Amino acid sequence: MNTTTSHSNPSGISLPIVAFIGGGNMSSALIGGLLGAGAMAARILVVEPFAEQRQRLQQRFGGVRLLDAPGAELRDAQAVVWAVKPQQFAQAAADCRPHLADALQVSIMAGVRCAAIARKTGAQRLVRTMPNTPALIGQGITGLYASAQASAADRAVADALLAPAGARVWVEREDLLDAVTAVSGSGPAYAFYLAEAMSRAGEELGLTAAQARELALATLAGAAALAQGSSESLATLRANVTSKGGTTAAALAVFDAADMQATIGRALHAAAQRAKELGDALDVD
Ligand SMILES: NC(=O)c1ccc[n+]([C@@H]2O[C@H](COP(=O)([O-])OP(=O)(O)OC[C@H]3O[C@@H](n4cnc5c(N)ncnc54)[C@H](OP(=O)(O)O)[C@@H]3O)[C@@H](O)[C@H]2O)c1
Repeated sequence: MNTTTSHSNPSGISLPIVAFIGGGNMSSALIGGLLGAGAMAARILVVEPFAEQRQRLQQRFGGVRLLDAPGAELRDAQAVVWAVKPQQFAQAAADCRPHLADALQVSIMAGVRCAAIARKTGAQRLVRTMPNTPALIGQGITGLYASAQASAADRAVADALLAPAGARVWVEREDLLDAVTAVSGSGPAYAFYLAEAMSRAGEELGLTAAQARELALATLAGAAALAQGSSESLATLRANVTSKGGTTAAALAVFDAADMQATIGRALHAAAQRAKELGDALDVD
């Protein structure tokens, strides 16, 4: 797979005027990060029909331009970030389309394909992204795919817009976003599942619920940080902490007897297949 990963923050580049369509959780996380990295609030527009949400955005990000409906102001935008629920996209795009200039379209909507975005917006320069929930605290990872018409400068803009969500991994084929969904999009739930099982077992072994939860979560976070800072393969890192005849070996033997690696493999294939099906269902009109 041809990918590039970046971890930098967006302060190195000057952002164009950006319009966020939808001012919910993801938009708020991205806007907060962009402002924190020095972006000018006046260069950010948000179309958000829900008055209470606009008020929240106003309080949190004074100076950002808030619109209750798309209007002529959208023409200023050089990049448009689609951050509504996938089911809301068709209506939102129909409302915005008369006001969209020749802007780069960046989507964070799960499952909505470039073909559908091009059809509904009339644009060709597209970047489709798949963030995950730790994006909400700046510790996510986002898969990104650019249409053939998007330039290197467009990719840089999209990369900077998603930087507040965490690291970015670019993929060279759109269908690989289904694989990204299977690994990192749905991945936080796998980590919670493992932490849940570790915590429960810790309690069975006599720890308090709080102790078991803290030990499980800190172990997953610490192991991930250790692996990220190492050039060793994951298999080597695992072998390094598995002495022959020791405690870790006893646990891993139980995993192997249950064929855990193959089970996890099947689970991720099921997630990728479901991502494809959901994409097909959203790609009908
Ligand atoms: N949250 C995550 O961690 C995460 C991770 C990966 C991908 N995503 C994707 O990111 C997208 C946004 O997620 P989110 O969590 O930010 O959702 P959200 O909090 O529900 O935000 C969507 C916002 O868009 C508004 N909206 C609805 N229709 C609109 C329209 N026609 N024009 C403009 N704004 C409109 C909604 O208003 P109302 O409340 O009035 O409907 C809501 O405030 C989704 O497609 C989701 O699949 C999210």
